[in-house]
Amino acid sequence: MYKIRNLSLSFDGHEAVRSASFDIPRGARLGLVGESGCGKSITALALLGMAPASARVSGSIEIDGQEMAAAPERLWRSYRARKVAMVFQEPLSALNPLKRVGDIIAEPMRLHLRLDRRAARARARDLLVEVGIPDPEARLDQYPHQLSGGQRQRVLIAAALSCDPQLLVADEPTTALDAHVAGRILDLLKRLSETRDMALVFISHDLEAVARVTEEMLVMYGGDIVERGPTAQLLADPRHPYTKGLIEARPRLDALTLRADGAPRPRLASIPGSVPALADLPKGCRFAGRCPIERPACAGLRPAVSVLGPGQRQVRCLAPLLPAKVPA
Ligand SMILES: Nc1ncnc2c1ncn2[C@@H]1O[C@H](COP(=O)(O)OP(=O)(O)OP(=O)(O)O)[C@@H](O)[C@H]1O
Ligand SMILES: [Mg+2]
Repeated sequence: MYKIRNLSLSFDGHEAVRSASFDIPRGARLGLVGESGCGKSITALALLGMAPASARVSGSIEIDGQEMAAAPERLWRSYRARKVAMVFQEPLSALNPLKRVGDIIAEPMRLHLRLDRRAARARARDLLVEVGIPDPEARLDQYPHQLSGGQRQRVLIAAALSCDPQLLVADEPTTALDAHVAGRILDLLKRLSETRDMALVFISHDLEAVARVTEEMLVMYGGDIVERGPTAQLLADPRHPYTKGLIEARPRLDALTLRADGAPRPRLASIPGSVPALADLPKGCRFAGRCPIERPACAGLRPAVSVLGPGQRQVRCLAPLLPAKVPA
């Protein structure tokens, strides 16, 4: 469905995404993780032809055989909503406060599917049911401020689904929500992808959330995809030192509490330093300078991608970590 090859996005000559290549097959659920600024959102926006105007985009984005990377806005407009739709982080700012819920969901269907008022409203009501909003008939006439945060995100998802897209891109869709509501939205996204055979690109800082929703994940650092593979395998057995660092840096409740003997637990392991600015990224491996197993060649030489095992796992590292020991 989606075939992305050597996709690069640059600002002022600095590559914020460096020749990314990956596929999004029909119905696949793909997680995109990495620290702030590593290029997740601009990669996601490029999938909708919505990269920032100041970005220079090169490479290939093929959707169902059609080359779209340099496609005119007119063509993208006919693809958006029907082939690909997006759910943003902050539902309140993404929803027009002056429009009723029913009109927000109906609008893309009237525009792209040319449905009349009555048909669009009937479908909007069905969509509210599908995303788990009770009493849909009453909700259609309410305004976004009359809904809870979780319901607003459900409305946004309903609007994104309205023209039956083949791919839904969700960029940090639950960060504005409390943990319980967030979990239910994650389960909804997963279920919708399954029942609709719709692909999902799910962006998150939260590795638990990625594990809950996706089957495959890409780890980005400094604009490079440094590791990819089946989500469960990659989390259990990271082979790029950055992925390993991310897993070890994730906040865990047991790390914040006291041990049984009352002594504090050891500090959280984390990756020293921070992601350099675009202009200061190393020419070679972007993780050079922060990597615990760095070699002299790393900063100058961009590592090639190594395929590990039977073609499923890929890692861009000069000296990938050895596989974790599998308990006998
Ligand atoms: N419009 C823009 N103009 C210039 N640089 C930009 C623009 N948009 C993004 N960038 C740069 O591109 C890089 C990637 O940004 P992006 O928003 O994709 O990061 P991200 O991984 O989504 O981070 P976060 O987790 O904070 O959302 C960053 O260095 C950012 O400063
Ligand atoms: Mg982002």
